[in-house]
Amino acid sequence: MSAPGPPPALRILLVEDNPGDARLLREALRESSPGARLVHADRLEAARAAVAEGAFDVVLLDLSLPDAHGMDTVAGMLALAPELPIVVLTGTDDETLAVRAVQAGAQDYLVKGQAEPAVLTRALRYAVERKQLDRERARLLASEREARARAEDAVRARNDVLHVVSHDLGNFLSAIVVNAGVVVRQLPADAEGVLADARARVASIRDLARQMQRLRQDLLDVASIDAGRLSVVPGAVHPLDLLEATRELFAPLAAERAVRLVVDPADGLPEVMADRERILQVLGNLVGNALKFTPERGTITLSAWVSTDSASIDGDPTEAGLFGGPADHDSVDGRSVDGDPVDARALDGRWVDGGTATSGSVDGGLGGAGGVDRTAGEDGAGKVVISVADTGPGIDAASRARVFDRFWTTREGTVGGAGLGLNVARGIVEAHGGRIGLRSVVGRGTTFRFTLPRV
Ligand SMILES: Nc1ncnc2c1ncn2[C@@H]1O[C@H](COP(=O)(O)OP(=O)(O)OP(=O)(O)O)[C@@H](O)[C@H]1O
Ligand SMILES: [Mg+2]
Repeated sequence: MSAPGPPPALRILLVEDNPGDARLLREALRESSPGARLVHADRLEAARAAVAEGAFDVVLLDLSLPDAHGMDTVAGMLALAPELPIVVLTGTDDETLAVRAVQAGAQDYLVKGQAEPAVLTRALRYAVERKQLDRERARLLASEREARARAEDAVRARNDVLHVVSHDLGNFLSAIVVNAGVVVRQLPADAEGVLADARARVASIRDLARQMQRLRQDLLDVASIDAGRLSVVPGAVHPLDLLEATRELFAPLAAERAVRLVVDPADGLPEVMADRERILQVLGNLVGNALKFTPERGTITLSAWVSTDSASIDGDPTEAGLFGGPADHDSVDGRSVDGDPVDARALDGRWVDGGTATSGSVDGGLGGAGGVDRTAGEDGAGKVVISVADTGPGIDAASRARVFDRFWTTREGTVGGAGLGLNVARGIVEAHGGRIGLRSVVGRGTTFRFTLPRV
């Protein structure tokens, strides 16, 4: 890179009615900026004509002219050449006025008779620089304002969409589900031929509409999680109630899929502080997944136990796991596909912490993650662990790190999910102050666990 050459010669417009002052300035400039071009106007009107005719880099402006006075002079000059930097010329007794002129838009001021030639030139150069910076700042400000306005428009548009999704779409879907359900009931279950076909199709319309209801709810929840206002109203709930309600809800589907759905909790469980509907939503997502992936004659086990203290803080992902060791309740994941108890260590992959909604991604191993401490909370023994274990295909190591990501799904196309279920589940568990994680062995099965605070 070559060194920058000398700065280009300044083109200066001097607006000054006093010929003596003008002469002194001209001489000073000749000395300090030999190449500079100076055009002299003796009043504002003359300055207007000069600006119309030629290009300038900077204006040297006397504040008392025959046709303008004081601050009016600055305003007048700015009006006729808003882009031109201004250096105000002022008498010794007028410095306050000069400062006001700078506040009003001039770049600098010089006290007449006090400015050395070198100072004069430097002031002019600085004024040009400063004006350029001002212009740049104004440009940035304008583009920032524009960007903000665009972002606000986008948020408004999103809110409009959410409004339609949460109200109108919800009502339409409910109407479809209800009406399709009525038609299914009206058509005889033992019908044959066209009638049987119609019944099956209407049932499928009802089921698809239900899926759309779920998707709608997930989308709304994702938006609420983002906005930090997912509504959770915790109360005292018994874990067994949560597990049994989930089993009842999914029993028909499990029977249809020939999958065993069992509830196998520890004895003497305490109540938890939870929003019952929200936790049923979490369990629904986990069991829904397990049912999607577990083949016929598989088993899905719902269980709950009290987490052992300290176990969750030691950070050993294979042993103690995320929420207290599996040893305290070995029916959870210490069971092989055919029902024999197996060594939990041999069975499992590592526990993968679901991370947090804000951290976004999953913390692979879990050891030492900030979140592990949080699991223990103020009181490591204060949590109940709820677990959903399946004997499905398992989740490979690479996918394990991503299952909680929003829109991440292995079920592509129209039959697939949106990849929101686990992301929403994590958001709900965290809104309760709990954590969620998983352990999986390819070919053997997957276990999801989450914690809830005891009452
Ligand atoms: N029990 C499981 N066994 C095997 N894979 C699972 C299991 N649970 C989740 N997954 C994997 O994690 C992915 C993400 O699950 P998630 O529930 O977030 O989305 P989804 O079920 O694909 O779609 P949605 O829940 O929005 O309908 C699934 O696509 C699947 O690949
Ligand atoms: Mg799902």
